[in-house]
Amino acid sequence: MRSEPGSPPRDRQADECPLAVVTGASAGIGRELARQLATERGHRVAAVARRAERLNQLAKECPEGMIIPIVGDLADASFREAMWNRVAAIQGGVSVLINNAGLGFYSEFERQDPAEIDRIWQVNVVALFDLTQRAMAHMKVRKAGQIIQISSVLGFIGVPYSAVYTASKHTVNGLVKCLRYELRGTGVKVWAACPARTQSEFHEVAARGQRHAPRGEPTDRIARAILRGLDRRRPPAFLLPSWSAWAVVQAAHWLPGPFEWVMSRIAQPKFGREYLGRS
Ligand SMILES: NC(=O)c1ccc[n+]([C@@H]2O[C@H](COP(=O)([O-])OP(=O)(O)OC[C@H]3O[C@@H](n4cnc5c(N)ncnc54)[C@H](OP(=O)(O)O)[C@@H]3O)[C@@H](O)[C@H]2O)c1
Repeated sequence: MRSEPGSPPRDRQADECPLAVVTGASAGIGRELARQLATERGHRVAAVARRAERLNQLAKECPEGMIIPIVGDLADASFREAMWNRVAAIQGGVSVLINNAGLGFYSEFERQDPAEIDRIWQVNVVALFDLTQRAMAHMKVRKAGQIIQISSVLGFIGVPYSAVYTASKHTVNGLVKCLRYELRGTGVKVWAACPARTQSEFHEVAARGQRHAPRGEPTDRIARAILRGLDRRRPPAFLLPSWSAWAVVQAAHWLPGPFEWVMSRIAQPKFGREYLGRS
């Protein structure tokens, strides 16, 4: 069901709309996914993140009752349990889970702080696994639902100075490949969206607050391309939401030699300058 952006769903009360859970909805791609789901696709959205004021602002920008802000830290197992119990108890149940929250920190792997490694892993992998298990059980009973993992082109390729983040996205892609078989015939779909560089707060967080010129695709375009996957009867295991994402993955797959040459001769020094401040 669709309605005009910014307008309330035409023929339903908010509490009659299908429910989507979007993690990391306070910024970047997740905020835009939540906004488009609520304003253009008639979904009520449980919007999860740590920053309450951001979620409340999002709720104000969307039709009344369409955003349910849920504030908490996804790295905290007890928050995840309470959050899931709350959304699963909402009448009609959860139709869509989008595991979008994610972070990285630029660093040489050898020097990466173990506390940073743990933070990346807890959010990008542990929380995503946990919510996916909960959603699978919930949706299989209903014989319907979609679980969307926001992965990355870095789920397919390697880059220097983002090793833990890249490993986390490879892990997510591996999970999706397996669950596609486990969920066959259940009515529940699982797939991953794999964006390339997108204009969001991600790079500022990864550079520990250092400002980065916004580069890459705008979040509204990426979110719209991802949400089109919801309309597909058989979504691909890995949806590439832009030409740049498609080009990177194709080049790495079909031209592995030249791709590796470019990464080691050009990307490695460039990323060293950009991310580690090397001269
Ligand atoms: N930007 C890119 O170039 C790019 C490319 C490919 C894939 N991706 C993926 O796209 C997804 C979204 O990234 P983005 O670019 O939109 O980044 P972003 O602008 O930094 O947003 C990240 C979101 O995750 C939330 N988050 C982080 N840690 C959290 C925690 N412990 N608990 C709850 N929420 C947490 C943040 O909310 P709070 O801080 O309020 O908690 C924020 O809403 C990530 O999975 C990322 O890996 C991004």
